[in-house]
Amino acid sequence: MDMRKIRLVVDTVLIAVFVILTLSGFVLYIAPSGPGSKYWSFLGINKYKWGMLHTQIGFVFILLVLIHFWLNRKLFIGLIKMK
Ligand code: HEM
Repeated sequence: MDMRKIRLVVDTVLIAVFVILTLSGFVLYIAPSGPGSKYWSFLGINKYKWGMLHTQIGFVFILLVLIHFWLNRKLFIGLIKMK
């Protein structure tokens, strides 16, 4: 696979992961807090599982951002040197 295809795959997955991360973050924002909150669910998924999904997808997001920076490092270094 050439570098352009690798960048395209990484960036497409990065966008999809960002959408899931933002949506799960929004679900956690509207989720109730307090003792009864463990009985609350959205789309059949309870608050605990939304938290798990958000945390795990958050780490995948950070990893993909690092890979994205690495794959585009020449461009970034060029931009920094240009000033
Ligand atoms: C689009 C970006 C993000 C948005 C909008 C967002 C939003 C939120 C919201 C609203 C909460 C609930 C806070 C509360 O309970 O008071 C939350 C919790 C959390 N977020 Fe994010 N977040 C984002 C990115 C990330 C990233 C990149 C990570 C890194 C791993 C992360 C890790 C966590 C963790 C560990 C929690 C606690 C989860 C739990 O309650 O079980 N978030 N986030």
